[in-house]
Amino acid sequence: MRVRITGTGSYMPEKILTNADLEKMVDTNNEWIVARTGIEERRIAAEHECTSDMAAVAARRAMEMAGVTAEEIDLIVVGTITGDYPWPATACIVQAKIGAKKAFAYDLSAACSGFIYALSSANDFIRSGHGKKALVIGAETLSRSIDWTDRNTCVLFGDGAGAVVLEAGEDDTGILSCHLHSDGNYLELLYQPGFGAKHPASAAGMEAKLQFLKMQGNEVFKVAVRSLTEVSIEALNAHGYTSKDVSLFVPHQANRRILEATAKRLGLADEQTYINVHKYGNTSGATIPVALDEANRAGMLKSGDLILSAAFGGGFTWASALLRWT
Ligand code: UT7
Repeated sequence: MRVRITGTGSYMPEKILTNADLEKMVDTNNEWIVARTGIEERRIAAEHECTSDMAAVAARRAMEMAGVTAEEIDLIVVGTITGDYPWPATACIVQAKIGAKKAFAYDLSAACSGFIYALSSANDFIRSGHGKKALVIGAETLSRSIDWTDRNTCVLFGDGAGAVVLEAGEDDTGILSCHLHSDGNYLELLYQPGFGAKHPASAAGMEAKLQFLKMQGNEVFKVAVRSLTEVSIEALNAHGYTSKDVSLFVPHQANRRILEATAKRLGLADEQTYINVHKYGNTSGATIPVALDEANRAGMLKSGDLILSAAFGGGFTWASALLRWT
C-alpha cells in the first residue's frame, strides 16, 4: 500500500518586502542579494498573522482540492521552527482552527527539512494503519526570529505556509520512500541560541540578541550542496532510477546558487528543477509544500510523473522524498 498526495495548498502573506526595501534597512544592495542568493522579494506576515493562521489557510486549500473534510482527517503534522508558542504544538492550534475533531496533532522540529520529516512521519503512520487521511504542513513566521539589523541573515528569509493531504491509495503511485539524516555536530552553524531551556528569556539574552536566528552562511552552503546531492542520489538509487527519470525536482528553496549547484551535480536540466526562491526567499519548512502547490496548480505535476524532493537545514538535518504522482 502506498500513501499519496491528493491535495496541495499554500498561503503566502500579502506584504511583499523587496530588496529595495531592505536597502533602506541595512547596508546591502539589490545586486548583491540577487547575485549571491537569487532572491528578489519575500513575504512578511501581517501583525495579526502567525504560523497557525497561515497553516490553517494552506490546509483548507489542500483539503478543498482533495475533496476531504476536516472531520475526516486522522492526523496533522506541522513541520515548523517558528510555532505560535514554545508549546503546545502549533498543529493542535491548527486542528482547532480547521475543526479536525478526531485528528491527533503534533509538531516536528527539523528546520528546513521539517516538511519532508513530517511527510515521512505521516506516511509511516498511515502505512502502519494508524489513520487513513493526514494533513502534512510546513509553516513558518521566520520574520519574528530574524535580526532585522543583521544583513547577513535578514535578506534571506520570509514567511509562508504550504500543506498536503495524504491518503492511503491502492495502486503503486504515491510516496515511494523518504530518506532522513541528521548530524548534531553542526549545531552552531545554524540555530537560534535563545530562549529555550539552555538560555531562558532574560534581559541580558535580549541584549545579546539570543532570540534571533544565527547562521554561518558560507559554511552551511558547502554542506548543503553536498548533502542535498547525496540524499537525492540515495532516493534515486533506492529504486534503480537516475536523474534522467526525474520529471520534476522540487528542492528546499534557500538560495538559487545552492539549487543550481545541486541540480548540476545531479545532472538535472534547468527545466527539471522547480525554483521560486526569487519570490519568497527561504521560508524554511514551508518552501517545499509551497513549491509543490505552485507546480501542481500550474499543471506541472502529471499522473505518473516521478517527483524528487530534497531539503537541508539546521540541526543539521537533511532529507529526500521520491514520489510517483497520482
Ligand atoms: O535553509 C538552509 C540553510 N541555509 C542555507 O542553505 C543558506 C546557506 N548560505 C548561503 O546562502 C550563502 O552563504 C549566503 C547567501 C548566506 C552568503 O553568501 P556567500 O557567497 O557565502 O557570502 P559570504 O558569507 O562569504 O560573504 C561575502 C561578503 C562578506 O563581506 P567580506 O567579509 O567579504 O567583506 C559579507 O559581509 O558579503 C558580505 N555580505 C553582504 N553584503 C551585502 C553579507 N551579507 C550581505 C548583504 N549585502 N546582505
